[in-house]
Amino acid sequence: MLNNKTAVVTGAAKGIGYGIALKLAKNSANVVLADFDESTNQTTAKQIEKATGVKCLAVKCDVSKKEDVDNLFKTTAENFEKIDILVNNAGIFPYKSFLEMSEEDWDKVIDVNLKSVFICSQAAVKIMRERGKIITISSIASLIGFENLTHYCASKGGINGWTKSLALELAPQKINVNVVAPGAIKTPGVEASLDEEAQKQFVNTIPWKRMGLPEDIANTVAFLASSEADYITGQVIVVDGGWTLK
Ligand SMILES: NC(=O)c1ccc[n+]([C@@H]2O[C@H](COP(=O)([O-])OP(=O)(O)OC[C@H]3O[C@@H](n4cnc5c(N)ncnc54)[C@H](O)[C@@H]3O)[C@@H](O)[C@H]2O)c1
Repeated sequence: MLNNKTAVVTGAAKGIGYGIALKLAKNSANVVLADFDESTNQTTAKQIEKATGVKCLAVKCDVSKKEDVDNLFKTTAENFEKIDILVNNAGIFPYKSFLEMSEEDWDKVIDVNLKSVFICSQAAVKIMRERGKIITISSIASLIGFENLTHYCASKGGINGWTKSLALELAPQKINVNVVAPGAIKTPGVEASLDEEAQKQFVNTIPWKRMGLPEDIANTVAFLASSEADYITGQVIVVDGGWTLK
């Protein structure tokens, strides 16, 4: 259980982030939900607070903007005094072929998916006491290739390497830094970018023969956020129904 812990979850208004925020709240953590979709985020925070009875706070934040991120952690410190758990979840996956990809397309994905992880984690560690947890949602796209997602695969691969280095730097403070790498998870983002046929093809590729659910990722994050995972650091935990086994 995570009583008296405060967790910040980015991209928490919907999808995997929502699943993670709900699970951490069910485990008794107070949760700060950060998302740039302000109205959905407010509704989600109220819903989770009502369902679990813990304190939830919605903060408008574009994770790729340092001033927004600074405000997120200032607001967190003002309301909860400290932060124990940071879940870097916000991310985008716009499909674009390599030759059609503009410099702006590349920079956008790197800024939202990778730079954000650096600026959010640095701001969090400054107000984190000893024994904190940083968990970042990367992807199996950090381990295997996906056509039309070169920028995305680069951003997610960057997260894995960054995590191992930061885990070493923060070991003296007993701050665990880990990655969860999901396979295909049924979320609003995936449903908007892949039609039914493409989703069926995904299911055929997955040994477990189903798409993952946000709960599959949330359960793994909740474990890594708990004291039961105190001796795990710098690791990439794959949660993909066996996709990357073959
Ligand atoms: N769904 C999958 O199959 C899958 C697989 C592997 C990894 N992932 C990763 O999981 C994470 C969540 O994916 P999802 O499928 O739930 O996405 P989603 O599109 O369903 O939800 C993403 C949430 O993040 C928010 N967001 C996007 N950009 C933001 C920004 N700049 N600042 C703040 N909030 C922002 C959105 O408003 C939304 O609420 C991403 O990092 C994604 O790369 C997803």
